[in-house]
Amino acid sequence: MGWQSMGLVVVVLHMALLIGPGSGIGANWGTQATHPLPPSIVVKMLKDNGFEKVKLFDADANILKALSKSGIQVMVGIPNDMLLSLANSEQAAQNWVAQNVSAHVSSNAVDIRYVAVGNEPFLAAYNGTYIGLLLPALQNVQSALVKAGLATQVKVTVPLNADVYQSSSNLPSDGDFRSDIHQLMVQIVQFLNDNGSPFTINIYPFISLYNDPNFPTDFAFFDGGSSSAINDGGRIYDNVFDANHDTLVWALQKNGYGNLSIIVGEIGWPTDGDKNANPKSAQRFNQGFMSRVTAGKGTPMRPSPVDAYLFSLIDEDAKSIQPGNFERHWGLFYFDGTPKYPLRLTSSNDLVPAKDVQYQAKKWCVMSPMASLDDPQVGPSVSYACSHADCTSLGFATSCANLDARGNISYAFNDYYQIFDQLDSACMFPNNLSVVTNTDPSSGDCKFRIMIHNPRAAAVGAAQGTATSFTPHVIVFFSLIVFTLT
Ligand SMILES: *[C@@H]1O[C@H](CO)[C@@H](O)[C@H](O)[C@H]1NC(C)=O
Ligand SMILES: *[C@@H]1O[C@H](CO)[C@@H](O)[C@H](O)[C@H]1NC(C)=O
Ligand SMILES: *[C@@H]1O[C@H](CO)[C@@H](O)[C@H](O)[C@H]1NC(C)=O
Ligand SMILES: *[C@@H]1O[C@H](CO)[C@@H](O)[C@H](O)[C@H]1NC(C)=O
Ligand SMILES: *[C@@H]1O[C@H](CO)[C@@H](O)[C@H](O)[C@H]1NC(C)=O
Repeated sequence: MGWQSMGLVVVVLHMALLIGPGSGIGANWGTQATHPLPPSIVVKMLKDNGFEKVKLFDADANILKALSKSGIQVMVGIPNDMLLSLANSEQAAQNWVAQNVSAHVSSNAVDIRYVAVGNEPFLAAYNGTYIGLLLPALQNVQSALVKAGLATQVKVTVPLNADVYQSSSNLPSDGDFRSDIHQLMVQIVQFLNDNGSPFTINIYPFISLYNDPNFPTDFAFFDGGSSSAINDGGRIYDNVFDANHDTLVWALQKNGYGNLSIIVGEIGWPTDGDKNANPKSAQRFNQGFMSRVTAGKGTPMRPSPVDAYLFSLIDEDAKSIQPGNFERHWGLFYFDGTPKYPLRLTSSNDLVPAKDVQYQAKKWCVMSPMASLDDPQVGPSVSYACSHADCTSLGFATSCANLDARGNISYAFNDYYQIFDQLDSACMFPNNLSVVTNTDPSSGDCKFRIMIHNPRAAAVGAAQGTATSFTPHVIVFFSLIVFTLT
């Protein structure tokens, strides 16, 4: 391509950004990973891919520093376990705002626009723990923002799961808030409205499909033609996202707040760990969604473009798999910043990978060719490896479903070895079951990963919270004892 046509491409690209929806697309950046990419690399990746906004789940100082002067708008998060202290103490809220908002806005020039107070705090799984805490926490954080002189530029909100509202029929127009929290929801909505704050909702068509084997597959996607289309008083719903979103619009309207602005806090599709989770379906869903966003198209009740944050940016291999094995595979990018499939966020270019990523050595831990499948240590060793590593790509209809028994075992051994940064001791399973190899055991879609350089590795033992905090020497030794006893 000559420089003239390159120049033209640049101009066209630029125009595409300018004429796109004012708010642009956002991404959720979570960090529950054994080997998170360095924040500076992620920020570069966000910019290279045209993300204009990012949503965080806490207020990590290193991440916020990396976002300094990036031009990216930021939603910082307050984890649910901080709601108790923030609800009970105005001082705690003021301290939180001072340390996690004011400091970054003033000294680091971070463009913080929202504070997400809690994350899906009304999920049934929490047994109502946060029901009495959310509104007072919202109020205290709001007062703290006012005191800090930031209330105009920084708005509070709370990302809620779509289970806070429901429809008595299958029609969006019958939508209202869940009966057990109805009064509280109306108070929260009134509070958001009074403070010029948006309602933030997480909507997951994938979960509709996952939970209900009879759910009509096409209705989960955006390519129309679903035989399950709903006619709601002349409004046609041919996908569950629109129907779900507008059930919220009706619930707001019914309670007197039909104009409250809405942010879609999380929307996306996972790529592994379930029969409906694969790159093809994820591409179909996310491209379908993004094509609407770039076309400036909203829902039947809210035709203006949706303000949304894709879920999620990068896979997180240390997330709980309590929701399902797919939970570690929501990323548009793999753990190392490699795009999983072509996706156009703007009208012109596909996702581009993260740059300057540093990998560990090209070596893998596999089951020794000399070892026998009948060795009694095989079972316990695999369970042990998988309890620390990530084996969610194994099993029915996953990316590594086609491995034979030896392949399965090797996969588990390797992931354990890589998570522990290729320490020799992490490839010493009992009875010489394992061996290090320089030949990549990956085949087809089944990737035996090599980890990226771990900034925490230098401080093994000092790290907390993730698998990296274990010292494998001790563990393998310990497991040897356990395994010989069993
Ligand atoms: C600021 O946020 C971080 C990360 O979420 C948290 O650990 C810290 O306690 C917060 N600061 C205050 C004063 O609450
Ligand atoms: C909620 O209740 C169930 C059943 O009583 C219990 O197993 C679970 O641990 C509780 N969860 C929380 C977050 O308290
Ligand atoms: C909602 O917005 C419309 C158009 O701006 C306006 O006419 C209407 O009065 C508003 N309704 C409420 C309840 O604020
Ligand atoms: C491989 O492991 C998965 C998950 O543990 C299991 O479902 C599958 O049957 C195994 N395949 C073989 C050939 O052992
Ligand atoms: C493992 O291999 C080493 C070295 O090849 C050998 O000395 C040892 O006896 C083997 N251990 C078992 C349990 O087979």
